[in-house]
Amino acid sequence: MPTITLVQGDITRESADAIVNAANSSLLGGGGVDGAIHRRGGPAILAECRRLRAGHLGKGLPTGRAVATTAGDLDARWVIHTVGPVHSTTEDRSGLLASCYRESLRVADELGARTVAFPAVSTGVYRWPLDDAARIAVETVRATGTLVTEARFVLFDDRAYGAFARCAG
Ligand code: AR6
Repeated sequence: MPTITLVQGDITRESADAIVNAANSSLLGGGGVDGAIHRRGGPAILAECRRLRAGHLGKGLPTGRAVATTAGDLDARWVIHTVGPVHSTTEDRSGLLASCYRESLRVADELGARTVAFPAVSTGVYRWPLDDAARIAVETVRATGTLVTEARFVLFDDRAYGAFARCAG
């Protein structure tokens, strides 16, 4: 089981073997964490995403799955892109959110990454309530068999940090 650590700040400033991106299925960029990672990481990340789209991910990366690229100019070896579910009040999509963390750890294991920085997937544009998202994230990482030694949650603001601290405490 990885040690869970919490940091408040900008994930693109973190140093880790792999940094997880809260992407969308297109893998071609967006706002939030995704925009920040592509901006600071530079064009090499997008170039590799485009190659993935031209290859086996022609239809895009499905929700709940993860795929790795270079980390470009970031202080990491890889970016692991995962696609969180949009929150729904009529359908329980928590299995897909859990899958983002499980699949990211599986890809990290394939790569040999031992330290992985995660954002709070789905809690921005995709509107997942923070407390619930934090519970799912922490429970899933704790329940996943992995060689990753540190899962670091990088939370952008006080509210997100507080939600994760209540769950991880
Ligand atoms: N470092 C750490 N956390 C951040 C940063 C940052 N630099 N920037 C934002 N957050 P979001 P989602 C927090 O919207 O909800 C994109 O357009 C933010 O406060 O980045 O999974 C993609 O292309 C929030 O708590 O991701 C997709 O279309 C959390 O990161 C869509 O948004 C996630 O917010 C994905 O939406």
